[in-house]
Amino acid sequence: MLDDKDRIFTNLYGMGDRSLAGAKSRGHWDGTGDLIKKGRDWIVQEVKDSGLRGRGGAGFPTGLKWSFMPKESDGRPSYLVVNADESEPGTCKDREIMRHDPHTLIEGCLIASFAMNAHAAYIYIRGEYIREREALQAAIDEAYDDGLLGRNAAGSGWDFDIYLTHGAGAYICGEETALLESLEGKKGMPRMKPPFPAGAGLYGCPTTVNNVESIAVVPTILRRGGSWFAGFGRDKNAGTKVFAISGHVNNPCVVEEAMSISFEELIERHCGGIRGGWDNLKAVIPGGSSVPCLPGSVMKDAIMDFDWLREQKSGLGTAAVIVMDKNTDIIKAIWRLAAFYKHESCGQCTPCREGTGWMMRVMERLVRGDAHPEEIDMLLDVTKQVEGHTICALGDAAAWPIQGLIRHFRDEIEDRIRHKRPSMAAE
Ligand SMILES: Cc1cc2nc3c(=O)[nH]c(=O)nc-3n(C[C@H](O)[C@H](O)[C@H](O)COP(=O)(O)O)c2cc1C
Ligand code: SF4
Repeated sequence: MLDDKDRIFTNLYGMGDRSLAGAKSRGHWDGTGDLIKKGRDWIVQEVKDSGLRGRGGAGFPTGLKWSFMPKESDGRPSYLVVNADESEPGTCKDREIMRHDPHTLIEGCLIASFAMNAHAAYIYIRGEYIREREALQAAIDEAYDDGLLGRNAAGSGWDFDIYLTHGAGAYICGEETALLESLEGKKGMPRMKPPFPAGAGLYGCPTTVNNVESIAVVPTILRRGGSWFAGFGRDKNAGTKVFAISGHVNNPCVVEEAMSISFEELIERHCGGIRGGWDNLKAVIPGGSSVPCLPGSVMKDAIMDFDWLREQKSGLGTAAVIVMDKNTDIIKAIWRLAAFYKHESCGQCTPCREGTGWMMRVMERLVRGDAHPEEIDMLLDVTKQVEGHTICALGDAAAWPIQGLIRHFRDEIEDRIRHKRPSMAAE
């Protein structure tokens, strides 16, 4: 279990003072200018040594991503863009950082931007996060007033501005290139890659898009050392991680823990156990709605990190852990997600635009058992035709939950068909 002394987010629950004075009393903004004076290469190397992998879902190594940014400007400015769209069902971790510990993010923006030669950072926050936006803006204003932002930010010699922009409530704007389109004032539709944002991102300039948590952990990593952060979790799965546990546990919560904690410990220590006990556990979506669910029997021994969950054909995603007990109609739960993805598809690519609606409609009939058993394989086949055949990963995100359902709960789907239409199931 993570000791209190090793927590990065010490005001995650808003019990303390979230103002600048409160943040400083908890050790934030301590010697920021001196950290910056150690130079770009030192910062990027520490972040690489920390083993930090992106907290937005894909788990791409953060230091490596930063190193793709041009060292010398060709005349174009560079930008950091912080992805605070957080619209993945089940995911609610960045929210707690922004409303209760906003200075971790603001300080992280300054340091990360300096490391990438950027004089400006944009934070793109989900439209529905109104109170969070207000809290964050108030913190940004305080930082300006204190000389931590603006000219010679925090006495570092680096001029730096932060702009906070809010979206209009579309999930697709969390996809990094759709986010850039939206920031530019256009419809949030993903761009084809390449070019990647590091080559041509915001306004055609070199840009790095990072998740809120990825940026907010950086100042503490630099203060305590990359090796300190790397000391948590298994090899290649380093660090502390903010988990958001929802669903059928006794105390749903958001908590910072060591990466690679066991699922059992996470639930027992922080969530008061599974509702109705461990024998009542049916399934878990371990990383936000886009990753395939796993049955309770597998999750009982789960290690909560990128690689262990990948080996089980699921993923850590955003570490939004959705727990379902035996009362759950899992077919209906996955149908609900299918309806979400259908609604949020931007419609640019045919497999996603048509496939998400098609998958949702078949799922709708499976919920009622109003289908032919052969349609299960047909549905699986369609998920494979969507997966990997689209401009952005929303197509994959729509396909994977259904694949997980069929992989682990095919019996339940067949039972329902048999129950509804005994003659069909017997064919
Ligand atoms: C449909 C879709 C929605 C996404 N939504 C978010 C989001 O809300 N927040 C986020 O940080 N990343 C989101 N991502 C991932 C981003 O594209 C990107 O990988 C991430 O912001 C990179 O940050 P990281 O390297 O720090 O993880 C989404 C991706 C897709 C395909
Ligand atoms: S995969 Fe879906 S959401 Fe992504 S670009 Fe294509 S149509 Fe739009």
